[in-house]
Amino acid sequence: MLLNLLGCREIINDLQGYYLSSLSHIIIINISLYLNRMKKIVFIVGGAGYIGSHMAKHAVLAGYDVVVLDNLSTGHKDAVKYGKFELCDIKDKTKLDALFKKYQPDAVMHFSAYSIVSESVVDPYKYYDNNVSGTLNLLKTMLDNHCNNVIFSSTAAVFGNPEYVPIDEEHIKKPINPYGRSKLMVEQILEDFSQAYNLKYLVFRYFNAAGHDVDGELSERHDPETHLLPLIMQAARGNRKNIAIFGTDYDTKDGTCIRDYIHVDDLCVAHLSGLNVFFNEGKEVHSNNFNLGNGSGFSVKEVISKVKELTNKDFTVVERERRSGDPAVLIASNIKASKILNFTPNKSKIEDIIKSLI
Ligand code: UFG
Repeated sequence: MLLNLLGCREIINDLQGYYLSSLSHIIIINISLYLNRMKKIVFIVGGAGYIGSHMAKHAVLAGYDVVVLDNLSTGHKDAVKYGKFELCDIKDKTKLDALFKKYQPDAVMHFSAYSIVSESVVDPYKYYDNNVSGTLNLLKTMLDNHCNNVIFSSTAAVFGNPEYVPIDEEHIKKPINPYGRSKLMVEQILEDFSQAYNLKYLVFRYFNAAGHDVDGELSERHDPETHLLPLIMQAARGNRKNIAIFGTDYDTKDGTCIRDYIHVDDLCVAHLSGLNVFFNEGKEVHSNNFNLGNGSGFSVKEVISKVKELTNKDFTVVERERRSGDPAVLIASNIKASKILNFTPNKSKIEDIIKSLI
């Protein structure tokens, strides 16, 4: 029990394995199991990546016992500053199964996906293999191990070119790239699994995640980096010679694509509300899907000039052809998340998001 009060879960686990013959130890173990179950265990799959590593921090600070699972294909081990780390690929059913048996998680947050729109156009197999097959494997392992709560990271890319903005949850889903299709397939799988196997799910469709945690402990580190804001920041710091605008002939106010940028911390807070739905609320709001954005859009040109203004740095901007797979405008309606999850973004201004990067 003392070990538990000290939070030594690993030691308790070892005790469970080695000392079952002694009655006194069995009592200790039973009490420890009881105390352990008071703290919910959450698997953060893909927790070494940008959004997952921020999520692990938020979840640990909120009092969850976090285990990060990641194959480190795009994530970084040193980004796992909160929770335990287990090297695991979601396609490896044997390893997944062992980890579910070892920790018996109460919920899974699934961030483990390839997510670069342009890459998905040239290498769709990679996207369907990991994002769909891998997820299917993860969900099957969850069900096999009686873990029925999952929060799935989906994307604005499931909507394709919007027929209206802001995009609400009812908007038709017609993705225009394999990445968006891979995420929509998983959304449909979740719906079917929920009907058939009583899986409880929440789908969060992120618009453009951006920014860093306020302490500057974590960061966005993609290799290669393809996202607009980190690339503009590199240009502002003098670490790249220019920033390219991909397409200036879109049907938008200045011809460049418009996106709804949402701070990563705000996304994480929405996920914590999601865990509350599973663990604390009587309301039947699962299984459900939510669009997560700020409800306002900024063009590529506007973002570039805001960064120039806030950093007081000038840098070269070049105009290039359109990038394949890019919709012209993506802006979220967050009314449903606000009503049901009390979702209120804290860093809703583009200035706040950029400032967190400076
Ligand atoms: N862009 C440029 N120059 C660059 C990089 C990007 O002009 O050097 C443009 C893109 O063409 C796009 C906009 O900036 O119009 C935003 O591009 P990002 O690469 O930052 O983000 P995406 O909108 O392509 O995609 C991101 C995530 C996806 C998610 C999507 C949801 O990477 O996983 O947001 O809105 F689906």
